[in-house]
Amino acid sequence: MVREFSIAGHKIIHQDAVEALKAIETASIDLIFADPPYNIGKDFDGIHDKVDESEYLGWCWKWISECERILKPNGTFYLMNSTQNMPHLDIYCRDRFEILSRIVWAYDSSGMQAKKFYGSLYEPILHMVKNLKSYTFNADDIRIEAKTGAKRGLIDYRKNPPQPYNTTKVPGNVWDFARVRFKMDEYENHPSQKPEALLERVILASSNPGDLVLDPFGGSFSTGAVAKRLGRRSLSIECNEAYIKIGLRRLGIPSNYTKDDLEKKKIRKTKNLSKANRDKDSVEQAIFQLEL
Ligand SMILES: C[S@@+](CC[C@H](N)C(=O)[O-])C[C@H]1O[C@@H](n2cnc3c(N)ncnc32)[C@H](O)[C@@H]1O
Repeated sequence: MVREFSIAGHKIIHQDAVEALKAIETASIDLIFADPPYNIGKDFDGIHDKVDESEYLGWCWKWISECERILKPNGTFYLMNSTQNMPHLDIYCRDRFEILSRIVWAYDSSGMQAKKFYGSLYEPILHMVKNLKSYTFNADDIRIEAKTGAKRGLIDYRKNPPQPYNTTKVPGNVWDFARVRFKMDEYENHPSQKPEALLERVILASSNPGDLVLDPFGGSFSTGAVAKRLGRRSLSIECNEAYIKIGLRRLGIPSNYTKDDLEKKKIRKTKNLSKANRDKDSVEQAIFQLEL
């Protein structure tokens, strides 16, 4: 079953991603942000995310090929995945795209602490384009504070005459954004919601107002919501009805759902476990990660 919901400039498609991507016009998308299930056993409201590695990668090749087809020649493609899968995806993508940056989204997690190895506290993101000579990168729209100039007030004596260091800079490839927590206003009932601040940087840097931003795995629809706030157009695909409802509310798209159906009722993503259980939980998670 395919269902489509739209409002001026914004569309949500309720369908399997590969099938929905096949129906999108070739070279029609300015920016793609793809954050698929990572095949690490998450429960996406009834869809269990764990298959053989070869099956998972074979599925990735299908939707990545479609993304390649529908991306404009001057378009940009961001691809997120787990640390375990990313080497495979990097090798596949570097034959098809120009990889501009290998970004690390680093975050703190005091809740999950591995004790027998170094716990995973980052997620990798590939930043890719089709054409090195023609792509959007609005460096001035994403500048951040440069501590050398702004905090320490140092003078650059290599310049003649000496000048203060810049107070802002273009971010490097290590991004420090807090994960979305229960107490944050933007929190939605989704197990892998990405922060609006991360999407804001991606969309400001790699698209212009009016451009079309695609998210093949909408999830909590952070991409669509931020694209709308920043004056871009958006197209989001998601196969799970529970999450479609989140998207309809976040993007303000009319539907037959009642207000109550779409109301935000916050449920914690993680259970509030006792300390003993928390320790057991981290060991199980550690074993699980090692099995991958
Ligand atoms: C990692 S989450 C995306 C999270 C999203 N970036 C956010 O910020 O909320 C992956 C999403 O893909 C959806 N999904 C899984 N398999 C899919 C498929 N075959 N077609 C479309 N969506 C799928 C899941 O339901 C889940 O919501």
